[in-house]
Amino acid sequence: MSHVVMQSGAVPRYNATERVVHWAVAITFILLAASGLALFHPAFWFLTGLLGGGTWTRILHPFIGIVMFVAFAWMALRYWKDNVIRSYDREWGKRLGDVINNRDDGLPEIDKYNLGQKQLFWAMVITMVLLLLSGIVLWRDTVMAFPVTVVRISAVVHAASAFVLMVGIIVHIYSAIFWVKGSLRAMTRGDVSHGWAKHHHPLWYRRVTGNK
Ligand code: HEM
Repeated sequence: MSHVVMQSGAVPRYNATERVVHWAVAITFILLAASGLALFHPAFWFLTGLLGGGTWTRILHPFIGIVMFVAFAWMALRYWKDNVIRSYDREWGKRLGDVINNRDDGLPEIDKYNLGQKQLFWAMVITMVLLLLSGIVLWRDTVMAFPVTVVRISAVVHAASAFVLMVGIIVHIYSAIFWVKGSLRAMTRGDVSHGWAKHHHPLWYRRVTGNK
């Protein structure tokens, strides 16, 4: 393993299936955010054009939501163990100032994901479950009728969790593209450089390469 890794000049991080599922989640998320905003407020009504008008937006939004939930559930089941928050993550979090200023000496070694990624992961899990449950209620006539109070509470829960998820995904995209340079190729080509892995995820690097 370590020999193959060294030869290719890169460290594998995500296989093809993992990348296809991730981008399926990303594409369905964009469609859901746009169509959801259109259904939420008239200021965003123009976004209904994306799914072929108002009626199609109302019809398709819940089905696309199911697709996103199922694809994300696959990711969550696969990655939850890598996202358990450990004591060294908390220590790392306390020294965020040193992390940001590249004062790496004596920083706790990070595994496959850092504290920020892990917190975001659990925020995604919670909001996805809330969106699914409240979304099923709001689908009402199509599935079953719920008491009006339950529908009203679901409308608030749906909008609030969608807002949290959207803010979270903006942070996720910003950090994957601009903040931690060299991350994007993990989800495009599927691998990262040795330098990136050593610098950002030393514990994971040693585990997958067998390097000391
Ligand atoms: C254009 C949009 C997106 C971009 C550019 C992007 C980019 C990335 C990149 C580069 C990684 C690898 C990070 C690493 O391995 O350290 C990643 C991982 C991941 N992404 Fe995205 N992503 C996008 C949208 C989304 C969306 C919409 C979701 C979910 C709603 C999502 C959920 C995840 C999850 C769960 C991981 C695994 C990291 C973990 O478990 O903590 N991504 N993404």
